[in-house]
Amino acid sequence: MEIKQIRELKDLKKYDVILLPFIKNKELKLEETKDFFENIKNIMKSSDFKDNEDQVYTTSLLYNDNLKKIVFLEIKEDKIDIKNIFEGFSKGFKKTRQIKGKNVLVLLDNISEKINDYNIYEKTVEAAYLSNYIFDKYKTKKETKKITSLDFLTKIHDFENALIEAKAASDGTILCRDLVNEPPMRLTPEKLGEEAVKTGKNSGFKVTVYDKKEIEELKMNAFLAVGKGSVNTPKLIVMEYKGSDKEEKIGLVGKGLTYDSGGYSIKPSKSMSTMQSDMAGAAAVIGAMKIIATMNLKVNIVAVVAACENRISHEAYLPGDILESMSGKFIEVNNTDAEGRLTLADAVTYIKEKHKVISIVDLATLTGAIITALGKRRAGTFSNNDELHEKIEKASRISGEKIWRLPCDEELKESIKSNVADIRNSTQGSTIGGGSITAALFIEEFIEDIPWVHIDIAGTSWTDMTLSYSEKGGVGYGARLIYNYAKLMEN
Ligand code: BES
Ligand code: ZN
Ligand code: ZN
Repeated sequence: MEIKQIRELKDLKKYDVILLPFIKNKELKLEETKDFFENIKNIMKSSDFKDNEDQVYTTSLLYNDNLKKIVFLEIKEDKIDIKNIFEGFSKGFKKTRQIKGKNVLVLLDNISEKINDYNIYEKTVEAAYLSNYIFDKYKTKKETKKITSLDFLTKIHDFENALIEAKAASDGTILCRDLVNEPPMRLTPEKLGEEAVKTGKNSGFKVTVYDKKEIEELKMNAFLAVGKGSVNTPKLIVMEYKGSDKEEKIGLVGKGLTYDSGGYSIKPSKSMSTMQSDMAGAAAVIGAMKIIATMNLKVNIVAVVAACENRISHEAYLPGDILESMSGKFIEVNNTDAEGRLTLADAVTYIKEKHKVISIVDLATLTGAIITALGKRRAGTFSNNDELHEKIEKASRISGEKIWRLPCDEELKESIKSNVADIRNSTQGSTIGGGSITAALFIEEFIEDIPWVHIDIAGTSWTDMTLSYSEKGGVGYGARLIYNYAKLMEN
């Protein structure tokens, strides 16, 4: 899809759909005197757009024997913020697609006075890209309902910058969605590594992929144990972006289970069917790196993904095993389905020891419990550092991806104490509850005192419902959140 800004409307001929955002009871700012726009004004005056949950209304109008469809998008004046503008415009573009709009005009200046904040109007463009996405790679008959060209009619002076940033942010988010949507037979740990290498080459960051032998040399035994049951061996993916002359590097870690069957603590088939998405943390981190490098942020970043498959075979790890993690701490495995935290424990130790990062943010589809706690539209965060968490909070407000901080209550630690090792990987047998908190506490044990934020994206990374801004499947959650976080960490 080609998106551009136009400052003046020279020719209406090429458009088949016109998207008109408006605020109720506000005079339309259609400067053009053409009859056509007079007609639109008249339609709007005579229609009482009844409160429609979708905020979207359509009509058709004749222009020089040519039928134009109009999509009216109601913007509620008291709800003008990043999230509402993003979701509102997503609805408008989705409708446009449904009525087969190909060449589309957006009359943005009709509301530009009200959305005159860079982060807000930038979202109108992200909404266009993200609501136009469809994963149809494996459909022989391709989806045809896609917008091909989109002109924003607006005089906003730095709209060009918004176009550049929104394109980069959307491309990273779409890469994240594509990776999550790939079936597990195609997106193995090796393939995930190759995708990271390809992305690094194209957008400008270094990627090193370590194989099983090298991971063994690093003594990442907790990570290795999780991947033992599969012929698709583990890969440690390390991405490095240098955008600043300063020494300081910030760390990112993404959970990279390209499939989670649960292992011997096997999942019921219903919960297993979408477990190719258990690498959504890794995908978000790779997507974020793509945006960060494309936008040339002045910051240094190391991002690590411990990629593997959690499967069953005669070689798979077992409940009852005791693993010596890279940190030297012994972990009792009492549930092979609590595998993410095992891979993260070693990934965190690796990034601390080998890259000396000043902070760590991890994204992980870690617990089903986070869905019980917060639902699927908000990720849960955990942190040992208020200042760092504030950065993530700020980034979340800019990206529009919601978070909610939960406590790392020490009292719950009791439940991951082991009789035979330093720690155990699940609370099995305990009635303490707080499954997402105990998972975070487990990771914190390996973080020790580095400033850290853990983002549990088990609920937000995948949708079973079609949303205005996302088809069913991978949502792309986190790529823009992490990009905006990195932007706040620029020096
Ligand atoms: N990958 C799952 C978590 C998950 C659940 C992601 C739903 C996406 C949607 C994780 O590895 C897992 O299985 N967690 C267990 C932990 C338990 C065994 C302590 C869970 O949440 O049940
Ligand atoms: Zn699991
Ligand atoms: Zn998992």
